[in-house]
Amino acid sequence: MSEAPHVAVVLGTRPEIIKMAPVLAELERRALPVTLVHTGQHYSEELDAVFFDQLSVREPDHQLGVGSASHGEQTAAILEGVEDVLEAESPDVVLVHGDTNSTLGGALATAKLAPLLGHVEAGLRSYDRSMPEEVNRVLTDHAAEFLFAPTEDAAAELAREGLDDRSHVTGNTIVDSVYAFRDLAAEHSTVLDEFGLEPGAFDLLTAHRAENTDDHERFAGLLRGVGEWAERSGRPVVYPIHPRAEAALDEAGIEVPDGVRLVEPTDFLDFLRLESEAALVFTDSGGVQEETCILGTPCVTLRYNTERPETAFVGANCVAGVAPEEILEGAETMDGKTGDWDVPFGDGKAAERIVDVLVAAFE
Ligand code: UD1
Ligand code: UDP
Repeated sequence: MSEAPHVAVVLGTRPEIIKMAPVLAELERRALPVTLVHTGQHYSEELDAVFFDQLSVREPDHQLGVGSASHGEQTAAILEGVEDVLEAESPDVVLVHGDTNSTLGGALATAKLAPLLGHVEAGLRSYDRSMPEEVNRVLTDHAAEFLFAPTEDAAAELAREGLDDRSHVTGNTIVDSVYAFRDLAAEHSTVLDEFGLEPGAFDLLTAHRAENTDDHERFAGLLRGVGEWAERSGRPVVYPIHPRAEAALDEAGIEVPDGVRLVEPTDFLDFLRLESEAALVFTDSGGVQEETCILGTPCVTLRYNTERPETAFVGANCVAGVAPEEILEGAETMDGKTGDWDVPFGDGKAAERIVDVLVAAFE
């Protein structure tokens, strides 16, 4: 093998677009042949197109348009669609990212057709198999030839599963994205003025994970806890609401507490600005746990486990739980912490290392 590999990149959701943008930019910089496949798992403008525009990701070569469906139906449609593309395009390597149904569908299609599979953000484990994301990431890791672990801890998880000979510690590509956009966000985002917020005088919330929103009692308790915190701290909590959570609110008729302010999901620059200037961030998102750690904002995770334990080890994150009293306790623990912890996710050159590994494999 001595030619530059033809790389197919499969993505489909908001975090995959944000975290694969640096890899796509690096592949382009080195003029490697690339086929970009969008599964269409996310399709609403605010979860999809805004990120292509803002992060300058080029138009996909293939849009599978799978849309929303049950896990089985969605994953099957992705598997079928990616298989067709791989048969038509014959790439040497396929890259998937993270832990979504797009990740698993892309991985399964690749594994059956035998081009090499690369998994970006490999080795994360929550040890909670009731989460669809945990199933997706474990299966994808075991199907992949190149495992791009963001941290030494993630590489150690892979080693425990006998996958150490395939793993490469690269750092997390979210650092590449945050470093590329945080100054732009500080200069150009007007979101604080638009929402009438003062730096340090508000908190931020994201909650969209199925186990939190689809259990309506749990979701109502989570909002109650955050609402009580808003009352106690005297700071409003801004909640850019994911469509899954919005649907759950409507369906269950849950009343949102006074101190919690619902807004539309924001673009990346506005979200980085909100995360940077919030006093405290409440979240069940994986990416938000990483970004707050990178940006120096204390984080309270509204879950009982995390596949990003490094954020807690360095003191940036408290994995609090979702009951109101647990949320209040977590918020008291984290409020006022200064973000002088070490960032465990690398130096912002993850994409470069990932492409180095791929190119070296074909020399
Ligand atoms: C998916 C991922 C999750 C990731 C999240 C990122 C899986 C199993 N879950 O969850 O790991 O954290 O993306 O945001 O892959 N919807 C829209 N517009 C869209 C997409 C979805 O309105 O563009 C609504 C639909 O009602 C849909 C619901 O959101 O049924 C859930 O969408 P889905 O893609 O199934 O999962 P997410 O919750 O987005
Ligand atoms: N994000 C955004 N606007 C929002 C909420 C989140 O741009 O209103 C970005 C955030 O910066 C992070 C990513 O979306 O990079 C996280 O995605 P999400 O929480 O949907 O998925 P997860 O990381 O949990 O898989």
